[in-house]
Amino acid sequence: MSGKLAEILNIHKWEKGTLIFILQKVQRELGYISEEAISEIAKRARISISEVFGVASFYSQFHFTPRGKHTVKVCLGTSCHVQGGPRILEAVERELGIKAGETTKDYKFNLETVACFGCCALSPVIVVDKTVYSRMTTKRVKEILRLYQ
Ligand code: FES
Repeated sequence: MSGKLAEILNIHKWEKGTLIFILQKVQRELGYISEEAISEIAKRARISISEVFGVASFYSQFHFTPRGKHTVKVCLGTSCHVQGGPRILEAVERELGIKAGETTKDYKFNLETVACFGCCALSPVIVVDKTVYSRMTTKRVKEILRLYQ
């Protein structure tokens, strides 16, 4: 077991109800929930691996593969779609060299699509980490992504 994982798991008293808290901590520290983490958590919590996985996979906040440092979300909701969202997505995919749902090889970026950010008046919209970029154009994609390199 990796030293960091052992460190995270060793400091906790295993009680009922701490599973989510531990999963959150592992993800925060390691960036994702590894197979090793699932199996080690199951052992310590004295529950099955499938129970741990079942709980973790229920929540969309948990990821099971390493994630990039920055997350780019492109809106493909109706308003953004009409205003050119698919073209923005293509430009981001081209710039990062990945498709939606993937992570760049250098683990700098994840790319996701969303159904609506709730700010349709600003469409088309992308969000990088927590920053909203409104009225996006394909030309702005490169300069915005460069800010996160
Ligand atoms: S459709 Fe994109 S923000 Fe609502």
